[in-house]
Amino acid sequence: MRSDQGHKVNQFSDGETMRSIDDLDTPAILIDAGRAEANIARAQAHADRHGLKLRPHIKTHKLPYWAKKQIAAGAVGITCQKIGEAEIMADAGLTDIFLPYNILGRAKLERLKALHGRVTLSVTTDSMDTLMGLAATFTDPGHRLPVLVECDTGMGRCGVQSAGEAVALASEIDKVRGLVFGGLMTYPGAGRAAETEAWLADAQQALAASGLACERISSGGTPDMWRSGEHSVVTEYRPGTYIYLDRYQVAKGVGSLDDCALTVLSTVVSRPTPTRAILDAGSKALSSDTLGLADFGELLGISGARVTSLSEEHGNVTLSGGAELGIGERVRVVPDHCCVVTNLFDEVHLIEGEKVIETLPVKARGRMG
Ligand SMILES: Cc1ncc(COP(=O)(O)O)c(C=O)c1O
Repeated sequence: MRSDQGHKVNQFSDGETMRSIDDLDTPAILIDAGRAEANIARAQAHADRHGLKLRPHIKTHKLPYWAKKQIAAGAVGITCQKIGEAEIMADAGLTDIFLPYNILGRAKLERLKALHGRVTLSVTTDSMDTLMGLAATFTDPGHRLPVLVECDTGMGRCGVQSAGEAVALASEIDKVRGLVFGGLMTYPGAGRAAETEAWLADAQQALAASGLACERISSGGTPDMWRSGEHSVVTEYRPGTYIYLDRYQVAKGVGSLDDCALTVLSTVVSRPTPTRAILDAGSKALSSDTLGLADFGELLGISGARVTSLSEEHGNVTLSGGAELGIGERVRVVPDHCCVVTNLFDEVHLIEGEKVIETLPVKARGRMG
């Protein structure tokens, strides 16, 4: 892939005049639309086979375009991590949004209330502090907000620590007139499916023993997606990364490099030594989040070339085994963690082979609050 083809508009063999990848400046995000669609369809088929409701997390793509495709494929709604992301999705016409996050503070609670007036909303809590803020804000028994109890089933992030604590918090939610106990939610650590299942089954039984109905049990995570739904108490699954996949998910066995839809198009800007090439994609484009993997990305189709270190605007590629890269050459990097990469770019280019079929603004990027 050489850049010396200039920025002409390409004439494709079918006579269509359209931009090609060669017309794009770098660094840029390319999304293979066919792969993303196939990843959506595969996950939805798995959920359907197992009687699971799918509620994809939009943190990976941050695009109403894909959220609508996920709903059209059969998802019951979407998951957003931040109110700002949910606001963008509501503006775009998405109608059922789960926000599995502790919402605190007057400013956020006011925005949450406004959102509740516009879409079918549900949230989580893992403490009385969060619950008190929700209780003071949502007071209408005619339009109650479903609140799920977040459970730490082994990930070690947010969440109540035991089934007993889950029951105690659920019964407090149940007492608030403007709220309704909406079930249990967890984000399990990768590879902890069995442990998570046991935790949730235990909590479900404890709730039943206390007379609290628990109709929704929401879990998530792409790494264990293909194991979800097997003899499980989980009713809803929230995968995020599954739509694009990345090196981390390939390492976890979720798919292959050929299933990865997101790549970062980059140009070789220097060849300072025979064994090193420098890309114009550094941590500002690839992020420095490796999720524990060695190296910062994989160069598609160039074995023996590894992104071994990054500074902000430079990606350092180590070449071995006869791998060659020339100055001006353009390469496609599969990042370690695609969700964080999405958050770094203003737009993504949807591609079909070499054609750029659409360029979309990443509408929900940078919505941190
Ligand atoms: C609460 C929650 N649910 C679902 C997901 C989606 O996980 P994954 O991207 O592994 O599918 C995440 C990811 O961080 C999350 O934090």
